[in-house]
Amino acid sequence: MLSENGVFFVGEKKEVVSKKLPVFYNPVMKDNRDLSIKIINTLRKDLRIGLPLAGSGIRGLRIYKECSNVKEIALNDVRKDFKEDLIKSIEYNNFKKTFFEIHNTEANIFLHREKYFDYVDVDPFGSPNKFLDSSIQCLKNNGVLAVTATDTGALAGSFPKACMRKYWSKPLKNEFMHEFGLRILISKIQLVGAQHEKYLKPLVGYFKNHYYRVFFKLYSNRNKSEKVFEERAYYEEHGPIYTGKLGDIDFLKKIEKDEFVDLLKEEYSINTIGFCDLHKRAEKLKLKKLPKTSTLIEEIRNKGYEACRTHFNPHGIKTNMKEKDLNKLIQQLS
Ligand SMILES: C[S@@+](CC[C@H](N)C(=O)[O-])C[C@H]1O[C@@H](n2cnc3c(N)ncnc32)[C@H](O)[C@@H]1O
Repeated sequence: MLSENGVFFVGEKKEVVSKKLPVFYNPVMKDNRDLSIKIINTLRKDLRIGLPLAGSGIRGLRIYKECSNVKEIALNDVRKDFKEDLIKSIEYNNFKKTFFEIHNTEANIFLHREKYFDYVDVDPFGSPNKFLDSSIQCLKNNGVLAVTATDTGALAGSFPKACMRKYWSKPLKNEFMHEFGLRILISKIQLVGAQHEKYLKPLVGYFKNHYYRVFFKLYSNRNKSEKVFEERAYYEEHGPIYTGKLGDIDFLKKIEKDEFVDLLKEEYSINTIGFCDLHKRAEKLKLKKLPKTSTLIEEIRNKGYEACRTHFNPHGIKTNMKEKDLNKLIQQLS
């Protein structure tokens, strides 16, 4: 038995997981599960949760223990021993067996058959593409869709053709590649939503530890679903990407605080695409010394512009100050 947050489960630990290895517990993804649980805890009561790619089942077991607003959890995985292993884990923890619905089929079949859910978590190896249609269709109005994508090779521009084929967008390969990748992913998911007359509003979107993660609120509303075309645009010769806010500050205010949540809250306050990477800018300006990021942010704000840190880069600043003025200020402060 392995354990996470005091919950025990049958599993094999591997930090590098892949389709080839039938290994299903990745400790690096603990952060991903922690934030998901905080988010579920802000949602309404009596939730019905769907986990189509449940792996070891640790996410579902933790939801049972840590989220008192959940009424039912349906867990599914196509893996051969899934059912047997999960029953062992439930019994080992002395959890109530009747609380869990356990399915052992292909994820799309599970989602189409078991609808409707208030929260669905699509957490695959690689691209979430093949689970998008079914997960969007099986959500109730106002439900939450959580999506992980570890498909960074395509989304962050190492394989541009793969990105165009899978996400209908031309990626970037520079210091903005992860912000761009996240915006490409959001736009793709929104387009899939639009074809079902659903609008998917990003509540929380981020990049961390080589994965992208987005939580959307789903609105079953044809007119609203067309908003996706207003929010989708080219950026120079790249894209198209989602150009709106990467998350909703009011929603984040409801989540139990931590350093990362605070950083996202700060970042979502400014809706600019891209950021200034201070190290790159110093190279360009041939500066030997740089001002502290916090000092520079303060000075930009003192001049009446918006500025904040970004989770995409510890030396990054998002601001609406023009590049020329920003360069001048950086030089003055260096
Ligand atoms: C990244 S793991 C899931 C990790 C899990 N969500 C967690 O938080 O620990 C992906 C899982 O998807 C399962 N899987 C892959 N393709 C599937 C499919 N088409 N239908 C159902 N399960 C599938 C694999 O067996 C694997 O356990």
